[in-house]
Amino acid sequence: MHGDPRPAAPFAENERLRAYLELAARAPMEPPPVNLLEADEAIAASRAFLATLAKRRSIRHFSDRPVPFELVENAVRAAGLAPSGANQQPWMYVIVSDPAVKERMRVAIEREEYETYARRASDEWLTALAPLGTDWHKEHIVHAPYVVVVFAQAYGLKQSGATAAKIKHYYVAESVGISVGFFLASLTSAGLATLTHTPNPMGFLADILQRPENERAYVVIPVGYAAESARVPAVAKKTLAEILVTR
Ligand SMILES: Cc1cc2nc3c(=O)[nH]c(=O)nc-3n(C[C@H](O)[C@H](O)[C@H](O)COP(=O)(O)O)c2cc1C
Repeated sequence: MHGDPRPAAPFAENERLRAYLELAARAPMEPPPVNLLEADEAIAASRAFLATLAKRRSIRHFSDRPVPFELVENAVRAAGLAPSGANQQPWMYVIVSDPAVKERMRVAIEREEYETYARRASDEWLTALAPLGTDWHKEHIVHAPYVVVVFAQAYGLKQSGATAAKIKHYYVAESVGISVGFFLASLTSAGLATLTHTPNPMGFLADILQRPENERAYVVIPVGYAAESARVPAVAKKTLAEILVTR
């Protein structure tokens, strides 16, 4: 158990804290969903999930094989189940399949990416990118059946009458990152290929996709099946010993 953090008497709890504790004590509570597995089932499930995730690679060449919309929609449902700072769920997933919109995105993204590769990126950045074999050409934006653009909501907007009040959001980047992880894992489990693509800058995506002022483009995720000709860079993951310590 945690020790009591309050200093020894005399301790005058202030009004604000008292009011908060009263509210917190009245918060509705319910039992959590149960997913209790026997040890052998748990190990089998854990290994199966690991084997599924081991099949994920960032794919940059997609086939035109159609993708059932439900797979992408369910991945958004999974993304929506992620934990988030103060449960504010500060994300919005925009699924783009309209070829004209994808083409506008490709043109705008390639323009920015060219600037990055030709001028903006430091030598150090280019050195880090070279092993991936990438450049400013982003045909995957038009080839992938779906391109999902994830937006982070920098703050919430609560409509009251004609005006909208701003609601402060907490831990936005962390929350959206975890949600995107759920999204990618769901698509991977459905056998789909993805790329996490972060054109820089990407403010223009809010204009193209007509998003409100509180949303910032966070990542662009083409979704589909890898083209038969697709190749991935032969780069290794760190070993368990490199990413795990125990105490
Ligand atoms: C936050 C983030 C941003 C990324 N941005 C890009 C990008 O702009 N373009 C790209 O081709 N790949 C991008 N990637 C993909 C990485 O290059 C890729 O994940 C990494 O090389 C490891 O390869 P793997 O995903 O196949 O395991 C990004 C990945 C992450 C997580």
